[in-house]
Amino acid sequence: PAVAASALSPVDAAAQGSPMRGSGSRPFPPDFVWGSATASYQVEGAVNEDGRGKTIWDTFSHTPGKVHNGDTGDVADDSYHRYPEDIALMKEYGLKGCRFSVAWSRIFPEGRGKPNQKGVDHYKKLVDALLAAGVQPFCTLYHWDLPQALQDKGGWQNKDTAQALADYAGYMAGQLSDRVPQFMTTNEIDTFVYVAYDQAVHAPGIKLSRGELAQVCHHAVLGHGLSVQAIRAHAKPGTRVGLAEDYHACTPLVDTPEGIAAARIAMREENASIMNAIMTGKYTDLYLKTLGADAPKFTDAEMKTINSPLDFVGMNCYTATYIRPAQDERGYAVVPMAKSHPHAVSTWLFVAPEALYWGPKLSSEVWGIKTMYITENGCSGADTVMPDGQIYDTDRVAYLRNYLQNLQRGISEGVPVKGYFLWSLLDNFEWAEGYGQRFGITYVDYQTQKRTPKQSALWYKALIARNAL
Ligand code: NOJ
Repeated sequence: PAVAASALSPVDAAAQGSPMRGSGSRPFPPDFVWGSATASYQVEGAVNEDGRGKTIWDTFSHTPGKVHNGDTGDVADDSYHRYPEDIALMKEYGLKGCRFSVAWSRIFPEGRGKPNQKGVDHYKKLVDALLAAGVQPFCTLYHWDLPQALQDKGGWQNKDTAQALADYAGYMAGQLSDRVPQFMTTNEIDTFVYVAYDQAVHAPGIKLSRGELAQVCHHAVLGHGLSVQAIRAHAKPGTRVGLAEDYHACTPLVDTPEGIAAARIAMREENASIMNAIMTGKYTDLYLKTLGADAPKFTDAEMKTINSPLDFVGMNCYTATYIRPAQDERGYAVVPMAKSHPHAVSTWLFVAPEALYWGPKLSSEVWGIKTMYITENGCSGADTVMPDGQIYDTDRVAYLRNYLQNLQRGISEGVPVKGYFLWSLLDNFEWAEGYGQRFGITYVDYQTQKRTPKQSALWYKALIARNAL
């Protein structure tokens, strides 16, 4: 029911007639999904329980020198056991959505074959607990924890892995779709291909040649496409399918018409090997020409599969790729970040709040996306517990507020973003950085597993309650 206009600020009063509703000057749509995101290997622990098979991250984190401080995900946040406590936190914060991932090797310990009922049951219990708390589940099927048995057969260098992913994804969606309405095939193909196989900083940590790398990337996008089809074949009708991808949020450094036009071109070309291929079913001419003899081998049928229609696109957005116009064949250039450009504790996480305006806006326009979610956005900090027991993460609050103001601007102009998943509910295992970089709005004491809401959690809770900034 509308509040008496006299009790509202002029801006709120104006918003009452619009689809944006909230008790603040920058409202969000009434059914906006405020959520948080996590991933299996980063929070679960319990790596030897209930028949879970080994993954490439178990192998990698136990290899000396691969992860900061020798940290592993063996215990992590112990969320495999403590998920009821985690869900109680979500309820306390007023979250409407929870993005979590299934550990493939809990379902198929060897990557394929006979399913492990105990693993399936775990995720059914988790989802039931979310639903009981009034939190909508959003399930990611592959968040980087490839079963080691598949790595032993070549991992993503072997095209068969794409089909293995689809078989697992179809099976799991079939098991959960009576209670999970949204699935994401993969999380950040960009990272699990390039950071793992080009920089060799993530598992399995293999440095490939340019041509081999392009082929691995092709297998990964094919795995996504095959999974979309497998999910549709096995899940309840009406199940919505998408992916979560950290495609470049191409952002005009100078937002003149020329700058914006250049950013639009860049949106396709900078994302040519993954998002543009998925959304258009084609590798761009420039991508193929640049790679020359190193271009991936593919068939038309595969490109069609890669282009399988999606119900939504999930964008993981932390920073911008700044673009300027250029008078050359490309028509744009990527602007390097200034040495003094502020960043979070993670050195790649340059603070660029307008990425959350331009990224969703230009990508939804360029690829004709009708429904988007921000499936990740967040800030790493060096949080410390103060003598009064509180964690004053002013950096994270400022970061989130600025990014969300930009998201709100886009939505108010019609950009079709339906929800936002903050990374992360909890501090967790930040891959090669171990536990040193904290992304949570909830502090985790790894000695005791005690969870303490940070100031950012209180801020997020207030934002959700008002549905406005
Ligand atoms: C991307 C990944 O999906 C997630 O696993 C990671 O922890 C965050 N971003 C922060 O780096």
